[in-house]
Amino acid sequence: MLATLPAAEPETTQLLEVRGLSKSFRGLRALDGYALDLRPLTIHGVIGPNGAGKTTLFHILSGFLRPTSGTIYFAGQNITGSPAYRVARLGIGRTFQNIRLFGELSVLDNVKVAMQRQWPPSLVATLLSTPGFRRRERELEAAALELLERVGLARRRDQLARNLAYGDQRRLEIARAVGTRPRLLLLDEPSAGMNPSETQELLALIRRLRDDLGITIVLVAHDIPLVMNLCDRIQVLNYGKLIAEGHPAAVRANPDVIAAYLGQARRA
Ligand SMILES: Nc1ncnc2c1ncn2[C@@H]1O[C@H](COP(=O)(O)OP(=O)(O)OP(=O)(O)O)[C@@H](O)[C@H]1O
Ligand SMILES: [Mg+2]
Repeated sequence: MLATLPAAEPETTQLLEVRGLSKSFRGLRALDGYALDLRPLTIHGVIGPNGAGKTTLFHILSGFLRPTSGTIYFAGQNITGSPAYRVARLGIGRTFQNIRLFGELSVLDNVKVAMQRQWPPSLVATLLSTPGFRRRERELEAAALELLERVGLARRRDQLARNLAYGDQRRLEIARAVGTRPRLLLLDEPSAGMNPSETQELLALIRRLRDDLGITIVLVAHDIPLVMNLCDRIQVLNYGKLIAEGHPAAVRANPDVIAAYLGQARRA
């Protein structure tokens, strides 16, 4: 009877498995042979000079861009080339280097819209404002408020998003991404524009997202102390290619990394 059993699925311990990922823009190789094995509950950092391909990598992982070649497995499923809405539904959330908020909506509504997009109510329930719909609305609001508490923006709930300080806009972006209930969250330069104390709060927030909500994190940042303190592992990209990866201390001491990036970052 054993012969009729289906072959066992290969046991995968990785949440994300990327192989040979490349992207060319008219001859320019923005990403070249990128690979990643990401264990669940890791906080993983990607660093590298401007134009190294970090945002391009995030665009591909989140389905905003199709790779020229390579494969992406998320939770054992091949998601290579899947469109962004599908990738989001499967559990990959992201933020954007250039913040994308609804400036004319309140902070609270920004989060509600993000959460609702993922699980839209039926049109009929909405139009008829059924009891079920109203209950759902209350639940949505409570969940959105809880998220704002988590990122430290609850007291700004009624402000228009465009009136928030830059650092607060970044935290609102994170709240919106977390509102889609991701298993994996990609943060593109979450500390850009933050002062040192905001950056410290951000570090604690990212740790809590991992520890309390069980979200695995990949982040891009130019803030070297943040990356070194926060990340379990780091990769360094330069001209689209991985030039180093490993534990933060080892990467920091790598001569290639110092030559390509850290020397320059220290002078900056
Ligand atoms: N849509 C596009 N069309 C053409 N070239 C692009 C496009 N997007 C990115 N590039 C190029 O690809 C390379 C990588 O860009 P990318 O934005 O991924 O870099 P990055 O590492 O995120 O840089 P930064 O630290 O400045 O954000 C750059 O040379 C960039 O000019
Ligand atoms: Mg970028």
